[in-house]
Amino acid sequence: KILILDFGSQYTQLIARRVREIGVFCEIRAFDMDDQEIIDFAPKGIILAGGPESVAEEGSPRAPEAVFSLGVPVLGICYGMQTMAEQMGGKVQCSDVREFGYAQIRSHENYALLNGISDHIANNGVPLLDVWMSHGDKVVEMPEGFSLMASTESCPIAGMANEAKKFYGVQFHPEVTHTKQGGLILSRFVADICECKTLWTPANIADDAITRMRNQVGDKKVLLALSGGVDSSVVAALLHKAIGDKLTCVFVDNGLLRLDEGDQVMSMFAENMGVNVIRVNAQELFLGKLAGVADPEQKRKIIGNTFIDIFDEEAAKLTDVDFLAQGTIYPDVIESAASKTGKAHVIKSHHNVGGLPEDMQFELVEPLRELFKDEVRKLGVELGLPPHMVYRHPFPGPGLGVRILGEVKKDYADILRRADAIFIEELRASGWYDKTSQAFAVFLPVKSVGVVGDGRRYEYVVALRAVETIDFMTARWAHLPYDLLEKVSGRIINEIEHISRVTYDVSSKPPATIEWE
Ligand code: XMP
Repeated sequence: KILILDFGSQYTQLIARRVREIGVFCEIRAFDMDDQEIIDFAPKGIILAGGPESVAEEGSPRAPEAVFSLGVPVLGICYGMQTMAEQMGGKVQCSDVREFGYAQIRSHENYALLNGISDHIANNGVPLLDVWMSHGDKVVEMPEGFSLMASTESCPIAGMANEAKKFYGVQFHPEVTHTKQGGLILSRFVADICECKTLWTPANIADDAITRMRNQVGDKKVLLALSGGVDSSVVAALLHKAIGDKLTCVFVDNGLLRLDEGDQVMSMFAENMGVNVIRVNAQELFLGKLAGVADPEQKRKIIGNTFIDIFDEEAAKLTDVDFLAQGTIYPDVIESAASKTGKAHVIKSHHNVGGLPEDMQFELVEPLRELFKDEVRKLGVELGLPPHMVYRHPFPGPGLGVRILGEVKKDYADILRRADAIFIEELRASGWYDKTSQAFAVFLPVKSVGVVGDGRRYEYVVALRAVETIDFMTARWAHLPYDLLEKVSGRIINEIEHISRVTYDVSSKPPATIEWE
């Protein structure tokens, strides 16, 4: 496996995902990992990632000594290259001027990392690569033993190599898709130079997870809160395969789910797959507690707490359950394992509101702890879950509770469910569902006038929201075709009598959030 040391760059997770896509397992750790921990980790290669700081600044992060003495190949990317240069006796020059964007680098000689990889060949026969740069500081003097691997006009040392030690440094970012040959370069490093076997495939991930779950759980019983979302569904499918009927799932219908969602979850897991699922129909309880409450945060709290109460109650009815399964995924783990010095900080992911109580007397089973979201999805497909389910847009824990503005009422939820289903159906039919990251309808409890035939109508408004995003921290409103919007709005107004008007949300995040509450 490959060790990736994080210096706080937003791109670190991207490096890990690329390496895993190549089929090689890797883990991200903070740059201040102990030498002994690195030795125990026994990496076949190490990648030093980028970071926001300047190597020249006092107290800026450095790679642990063991990185360079372990005898395994090392690849430094951006800040990783600079700290490698500095620590081995080279020089880094500070600069306030940032180089950001495309650059064309010349690749020199035949170094193992870039040999035979190019986008173009110059007239004089020099291989050229189109790469993505994002840096201020740069290496101006290579350490002893290194020679020039790549250069550009503005960055004369854009790549350096010490072939004897198998140490490489690149100033550009091979992990971003703008660097067209980036995947090939990373593959050259992990598969060829580090000699890692490419065994990290969905089939192997599934086999491995099933074996581990069997070992951990034995013949004891496991309880899982199944929400119908991707993560808990994949955990259910995995555990069902691993331990069969020793798994019990609790599925709570809170009255704030999408159209027919409860029935779909039951038919897929209970009927088709034969998973033990206890369905709790708690619509009235939730809606009762939400009556008269308009504040979004208060609504979230009520929905979260009510869920915990119900789950507790169901768990208490079951005897001899020892384990609680959770769909924790790798980005949550990386985030909570921040560096000891607190220097490198990983971007926050959105926490699932409505989590489980902390004082439960169970041991935890977290089979997805090592996986990125895209790996969880591939694993789901491998385990036989339908792709349309595994590639579904995310749905917030409080569900329609935060998509009905202000007070939540059953009538509103019923209207919204139908409008949302029409929108999603048309997005799927037009091929736009997979081109957007999240799309849904929002219920506005205001009335607007319309005409139907000879009559006047005075009914509610629905807003449509569709966004494109990678990390859900920033998002662009999706430029859906007018024809599609026309069709959706026509269908919603004609098919749902209590809606007189449909609008499309053209706000991006920031400053607007994705959800309306
Ligand atoms: P915002 O509205 O903050 O949403 O731009 C970003 C992402 O988070 C989801 N979201 C939630 N998910 N509980 C959740 O489990 C919540 O309370 C919650 N609020 C927002 C939202 O759907 C989007 O994907």
